[in-house]
Amino acid sequence: MIDHSRILEVLADGAVHSGEELSGVLGVSRTAVWKQLRRLQDDTGLKIESIKGKGYFLRGGIELLSRSQIVDLLSPAARPLLVEFCLLGQTDSTNSIALQRAQRSPLSGHVIVAEQQTAGRGRRGRRWVSPYGCNIYCSTVWQFQGGAAALEGLSLAVGVAVARALTATGLSGVQLKWPNDVLWEGRKLAGILLEMIGDAAGHCQVVVGIGINVSMRPEVAGVLIDQPWTSATAAAGRQVSRNHLLASLLSELLPLLAEFEARGFAAFHDAWSALDTMYGKEVLVQAGDQVVAGRAAGVAANGALVIDTPLGPQWFHGGEVSLRLQSSNHV
Ligand code: BTN
Repeated sequence: MIDHSRILEVLADGAVHSGEELSGVLGVSRTAVWKQLRRLQDDTGLKIESIKGKGYFLRGGIELLSRSQIVDLLSPAARPLLVEFCLLGQTDSTNSIALQRAQRSPLSGHVIVAEQQTAGRGRRGRRWVSPYGCNIYCSTVWQFQGGAAALEGLSLAVGVAVARALTATGLSGVQLKWPNDVLWEGRKLAGILLEMIGDAAGHCQVVVGIGINVSMRPEVAGVLIDQPWTSATAAAGRQVSRNHLLASLLSELLPLLAEFEARGFAAFHDAWSALDTMYGKEVLVQAGDQVVAGRAAGVAANGALVIDTPLGPQWFHGGEVSLRLQSSNHV
């Protein structure tokens, strides 16, 4: 995709801008402006409208992500932990980019954010709907010693960081569903995808991918999402700033990763349990071909899901396990 940032910076305010003004800003002819606007629409899916004789506008404007604003808003605890912040326009998947970079050289504290993903990845092979300029798509690379065992419960702990960031932005009632769905009134608000490279028994790098629906509209996501979902803006009942929310997310996440490295999931077990939306409910757990019915009994010290069944408690670990209410069709 060509770099649309200059023209978008002008159109972001939602006001009408003449072809002449845009041609001056871009340093190209009026015909070239028109062509570039068409390219912009094709590349991003944003709708640029025009008024004859007056110019072009982006209805409602758009809050573009701003590196300087986000870094300025970081908490004092997070700032020294942020080693690199890379803001992309469009990419296939911020997790893929982060994994490629981590494969080239060991990284920790590196953050990749994009305005749009063309192949956003979700858990269990699903796609993550990632339209331009309305959500958060963020991947953070962190290095851990001690291999896979030291990572038990990490994805749950990350859920705590996401819930805290949303709460700090003014949303109340955010809850977590094992292993790492972030919900509001039973609807999916954010998702977490952890991917690991390195030595399963020693040094490894984890890519912590987080997607938060911020102001995605139903007509944009349409039928692409096959489960109940919501956005931070819909849940808050007012426009939530992506820049503020992203700064808040990194302010929670980076110190949490550092603390997890030192203390593991034990440090977050109580915080996670306080947000557990399934606790005490009748649920079904699907693990491969096996379906287990029982009552959700929280999580163990290592982050495993505990289900009380007529045969006694059963423990489930992440991966290809899914959890749902007995009364729901949605996985
Ligand atoms: C889920 O299925 O709940 C996990 C969704 C994770 C989406 C995020 S968006 C940023 C990062 N890049 C990706 O391709 N996926 C994760």
